[in-house]
Amino acid sequence: MVQRMFISNANQVITMAGHSDKPAKKEEMSKISIMEHGSIWIEDGRIVETGPDDELREKYKSQLEDAQQIDASGKIVTPGLIDPHTHLVHAGTRENEYAMRLKGKTYMEIMGAGGGIHATTRATQKASHEELYEESKKRLDKFLLHGVTTVEAKSGYGLTLEHELKQLEVAKQLQKDHSIDIISTFMGAHAVPMDEKDNPEKFVTRLIEEMIPEVAERKLAVFNDVFCERGVFTPKQSKRILEAGKKHGLIPKIHADEIEPYAGAELAAEVGAISADHLLKASDEGIKAMAERGVTGVLLPGTAFFLMAEFAPARKIIEAGVAIALSTDQNPGSSPTISLPFMMNLGCLKMEMTPEEVLTATTINAAHAIGCADEAGSLEAGKKADITIFDVPNYLTLSYQYGMNHVDTVIKAGKQVVA
Ligand code: NIG
Ligand code: FE
Repeated sequence: MVQRMFISNANQVITMAGHSDKPAKKEEMSKISIMEHGSIWIEDGRIVETGPDDELREKYKSQLEDAQQIDASGKIVTPGLIDPHTHLVHAGTRENEYAMRLKGKTYMEIMGAGGGIHATTRATQKASHEELYEESKKRLDKFLLHGVTTVEAKSGYGLTLEHELKQLEVAKQLQKDHSIDIISTFMGAHAVPMDEKDNPEKFVTRLIEEMIPEVAERKLAVFNDVFCERGVFTPKQSKRILEAGKKHGLIPKIHADEIEPYAGAELAAEVGAISADHLLKASDEGIKAMAERGVTGVLLPGTAFFLMAEFAPARKIIEAGVAIALSTDQNPGSSPTISLPFMMNLGCLKMEMTPEEVLTATTINAAHAIGCADEAGSLEAGKKADITIFDVPNYLTLSYQYGMNHVDTVIKAGKQVVA
């Protein structure tokens, strides 16, 4: 029997239509398609049609009785939000480091002394598959409650083949069990293990010769990410790691120019990365190269906020013609949040993005940053019915009433998963 759903009469349906082939750039990011008094007809988990409420009611009137009906009067409907950069699977928290940073220690000082990523690596190595699964599942549940229906998830707190595989296996299991879709990234190049600090080349070789081939062979990841930062991986090492991933079918991503300018944006363009993420200190040349090569910029304002750093120059990046997505960077050290709506607030208030741009950046452009725009990111016929209903009268209110959860209902592949 066909499963039918009718979402009716929303104040505004923000469809994000028209950008499934290519991400929205420049002024396209502000031109969002809004339908007033809009409805959506869904069959077997897919969107069949979006349109004015009266028209769809008339067209589907003979089937309306069989459909699950969700009244969205007074509310807005958007594509399910997409978080294109998270470190979802990890163990433990680092509130002690937060307290240290509030007293003046820097993120890199803490990491250099064996804390930071290394602290979470120790906790993650110790955790069993089941423990990691339970911790990560709780975070996913919270993502869902905040309107997110797809996340990217990176490994990178294992740093040995065994523990990197454990993280990726947990993500794979969660992808099977949880309503949120998870797209995995291998990030063995997140840090050089503490005990190999003096010989990073050996670790780079192990990444290239052992870990990348095994991860690819087991089909545990779609992307390969590197923390290209002074004191972590050099641009030269990053390039070798990303090129090696490409040979095994893993698409490059980069943590680029987060703390210092380090030619990360340039490298993203050179290797043809799908995205370069952070970009707080990206050079003008790097931004230009990204625009020319069509690399999406994933901005993580929660990280700048939490590290008390300057925010990425979003306006400059958008005006240079780079498509922008927004993400939480969910992780225990630099961004312990799951709220993508709060990233929208920060995008507007701290990076001078428009309310329209931040919606584009958390839906269709976020989908492009993780290669799923054919299935998600907009409300268009044929796409998966991943839909969030917010209890606000118009989309402006989403970025205006900040720091609170406006989610009313979440629908994932045509099923109501948050009521
Ligand atoms: O994206 N910059 C590197 N990785 C993460 C932080 C990871 C951590 O501190 O545990 C980031 O900010
Ligand atoms: Fe990150």
